[in-house]
Amino acid sequence: MITQIRRLSFALGAEIIGIDIRKPLDDKSFSEVHAAFLEYGVLLFRGQPLTREQHIALTRRFGEVEKNDTKYKPDSEHLGPAHADPERKYPDIVVNNPHPNIKRSDYEGNFWHTDGMTGCSPPMASLLRGIEVPEVGGDTMFANMYLAYQTLSDTMKKLIEGLYGIRPGTTRLKYKQPTPSIAHPLVRVHPETSRKSLYLSEKVSRIDGMTVEESEPLIQFLCNHAVRPQFVYRHRWRKDDLLIWDNRCLLHNAVGDYDSAQTRHMERTRVLGTPSGAYISGE
Ligand code: SIN
Repeated sequence: MITQIRRLSFALGAEIIGIDIRKPLDDKSFSEVHAAFLEYGVLLFRGQPLTREQHIALTRRFGEVEKNDTKYKPDSEHLGPAHADPERKYPDIVVNNPHPNIKRSDYEGNFWHTDGMTGCSPPMASLLRGIEVPEVGGDTMFANMYLAYQTLSDTMKKLIEGLYGIRPGTTRLKYKQPTPSIAHPLVRVHPETSRKSLYLSEKVSRIDGMTVEESEPLIQFLCNHAVRPQFVYRHRWRKDDLLIWDNRCLLHNAVGDYDSAQTRHMERTRVLGTPSGAYISGE
């Protein structure tokens, strides 16, 4: 049973105290955790040295675990040598431990985004563990997209209702498959809370039905508005922290500002989500 919920910021986030997530959660505890997840968007559990099996078991409590088997290859530069999983015994876990040769500023999570937006059904949640964290820096920032939507003027809300943001496809990268262009609604209705939030990232290049020139100022405005400091929580990692966040109503940004001589070894699972977008051709 949860003994305390401690808010992490005005905008979002709560630390959950009194639950040992290494053990299977009974239904009552899980329903409290789930309610807090929907209310606060990010949940923090401190001092939880989970095994990979426990990490996967906890993920499974939230829904079906996303398979990552084709995304990160064992020889990928994104897998640091010290902690890689070369035998791929745990294909559902992504090891975020950039190779020392990768500049922190080039790390792919180092911009405002929401996970899995290149797919039609982005994951509903991500569970990230801090295994080894730098002395300073390497924080993860989160922005509350419900608040971003609520604080728009009624005229802007009407303007963007029903519009789709297009994220261009990618060509094949060394460690990733190519992805087609995809359109997601700029205003998304959360499938569980039924609340509306903004839903876009800096990678959206155009709005469906508009030219690039027409789209850019609107995208720029919405992206800047969404990450105003009053909508943001910045998490400073401690070893054995576990964060669970709701990808359907938050943006996040892994800040690449730590000493490259230090290790930042994180491990992440994701929970499958429901359909939101559609692939488009001819972009
Ligand atoms: C991510 O973008 O999902 C990774 C977040 C992090 O490493 O802080």
